[in-house]
Amino acid sequence: MPPPEVARRFQRRLLAWYARHGRDLPWRRTRVPYRVLVSEIMLQQTQVDRVIPKYHQFLRRYPTLRALAAAPVEHVREIWYPLGYNIRPVRLHAIARETVARYGGRLPDSAAALRALPGIGRYTAGAVLSFAYGRDVPVLDTNVRRVLTRVFLGPRRTARLRGDKRLWTLAEALVPAGRGYDFNQALMDFGATWCTPRRPRCAACGMRAFCAAYPALAGRPSLGGRR
Ligand code: ADE
Repeated sequence: MPPPEVARRFQRRLLAWYARHGRDLPWRRTRVPYRVLVSEIMLQQTQVDRVIPKYHQFLRRYPTLRALAAAPVEHVREIWYPLGYNIRPVRLHAIARETVARYGGRLPDSAAALRALPGIGRYTAGAVLSFAYGRDVPVLDTNVRRVLTRVFLGPRRTARLRGDKRLWTLAEALVPAGRGYDFNQALMDFGATWCTPRRPRCAACGMRAFCAAYPALAGRPSLGGRR
């Protein structure tokens, strides 16, 4: 675990970065759990730009979990189709049916109940709890893994070797009380647009002073030196 002072600096700088550079995305304008779930399942394997129009179209067609549960699964697959990975609409549809049958059409607000639903793992449960229910729980996706690995573990590609458990523990320890929503959205945007895989913007990064991967990262030919 990082020393508390480093954790606080990271939180402060990341939230300040987000206030300036965070993206205005449609699923950040809602706290409706179903809408958050739809966005997160779409975003699992699809880029933001492609998700945005489909997110609107899908929610116009199926505005509630009940509407989705009432639809034939074939229709749901069809509307999803251009996004690919077609197990996702089938699972989402199964979630809708189960939620209607077991919870009166309201997505549960506990990690255990969410994770018992089809296709919901720790990431998606965390995203729904954080982004819809305002809980200070961690999220860890590819972007967040990269940011945390670089800043706190160093320049080598050690995330996989060291295991996810360590990164989840780190992500959990870093979530600032009462700011989980912004902090998690910020981590995702920071990873997606700033601390990118190949060209991280180290020169303009406020995290540089304590980043465990800097300057090794910035010194590598296509990493960090340029934009
Ligand atoms: N990728 C997964 N979840 C996301 C979110 N809430 N915002 C931006 N990108 C994401």
